[in-house]
Amino acid sequence: MKNPYKLLYHIEPSKGLLNDPNGLIHYKGTYYFFYQWNRFNTNHDYKEWGLFTSEDMIHWTDQGSAIIPDRMMDKNGVYSGSSIEYDDKLYLFYTGNVKNEGERKSYQCVSISQNGKTFIKQDVAIETPHEFTEHHRDPKVWRGENNWWMVVGAQSKGEKGAIALYSSTDLLHWTYENILYSESLDNMCECPDLFSVNDKVDILTCCPQIRPTEGDNSVEITSYAGFIAGKFDEESKKFLPETNLELIDYGFDFYAPQSFLDDKGRRIIVGWMSRMKEKEESLCPTKKLGYIHCLTLPRVVTWENGKLIQRPIEEVKSLRKNQKEFNMPKDHFQLESGKFEIELLRRNGLNDFKLCLRNHAVVINYCAETKIFSVSRENWVTKKKESKSKEIQSLLQLSIFSDASTIEIFVNNGEYVFSLRYFTDEKQLGSEYSGLEQDEKLIYFEF
Ligand code: FRU
Repeated sequence: MKNPYKLLYHIEPSKGLLNDPNGLIHYKGTYYFFYQWNRFNTNHDYKEWGLFTSEDMIHWTDQGSAIIPDRMMDKNGVYSGSSIEYDDKLYLFYTGNVKNEGERKSYQCVSISQNGKTFIKQDVAIETPHEFTEHHRDPKVWRGENNWWMVVGAQSKGEKGAIALYSSTDLLHWTYENILYSESLDNMCECPDLFSVNDKVDILTCCPQIRPTEGDNSVEITSYAGFIAGKFDEESKKFLPETNLELIDYGFDFYAPQSFLDDKGRRIIVGWMSRMKEKEESLCPTKKLGYIHCLTLPRVVTWENGKLIQRPIEEVKSLRKNQKEFNMPKDHFQLESGKFEIELLRRNGLNDFKLCLRNHAVVINYCAETKIFSVSRENWVTKKKESKSKEIQSLLQLSIFSDASTIEIFVNNGEYVFSLRYFTDEKQLGSEYSGLEQDEKLIYFEF
């Protein structure tokens, strides 16, 4: 059977469930994207690190399993983490998840590779400091002035979200320093990351989570991915915020992002698309085909005029085939397939604009009066329309990337991003727009 949802240029598993991107790195000229993988089933009962490699972040080779849960310290899951290249070697940091009769224990573990193929687990591990619960996971490591730093997503004993900071001089032995940051992190914080952008600002990303109290299964965990701009002060070992916590992505499907620096000096982030609600996950159409979830397009992040800007890697342009331009005030057209890029270029950005894609499966709208930019899709569980929105002063530009069942919308040259999954029939290719003024255009690229 032909799979109408199969992605062309996004990472998705051949079978089973994928969640967070892990250990992203450009190692010896090759991009290594590890990820949380349940290769046995489309649920979250088992987790290991799977691996995809690439030369251009567009064409990927599935390398199968990289680290599996095979020892006491990680027997119930090789959970998320990061990687570092040092002395030609690849150091992977991950959380070993242990559950003994329902009681959780977490260890931050290290695995080393000389060749990017064989990963040797080390005997050392970080045990959770007393001030935290065992919801302690997702180590992210980077090089500081005088030592290595590691942040770990944490929960205080008072069940408040926190980010724990560790230091090391050899990447193997780690000292717990203090809480790096703990404002507005709900009950728990997953997948923290800290990196500087343009040498101007430090960005702390995190996934605050509201967890129901232990044993209460009636309420779902809710969480989102956010960022704060500020400065990491290596002396006081604190993160000094200069902005509020803001969403990284305004769409439906974006979680657990991780960043890395590539050999071209680009700071790139990739997220999991997505952390669906339980019902959405259990009824996700790809499940019948034996797999679920994917990663986002890699995005280059920069800091421009006090804003975090995200743009898709330029390599994605290599997919462009035929090109069509539209400049009538309104028009309709047939897409060649669900895999395409559309760019909108406007002059003053202050009038209404609407774009309906794939027989209205996804609708993008800007209302000049309310200044609300919105993206709606049909929910595959409720069959109802649902939308996400953001107030923006003007709509000047859009870059839209669709890959059969994903869509990523970059607004105003990367000022805001909306990422989402959508599932529609392969033949639903009708599209229409309205709201183009003179000298404005819509460019469609087939992929
Ligand atoms: C985030 C997360 C991480 C954890 C991993 C387990 O989606 O819950 O905190 O390490 O997924 O798969």
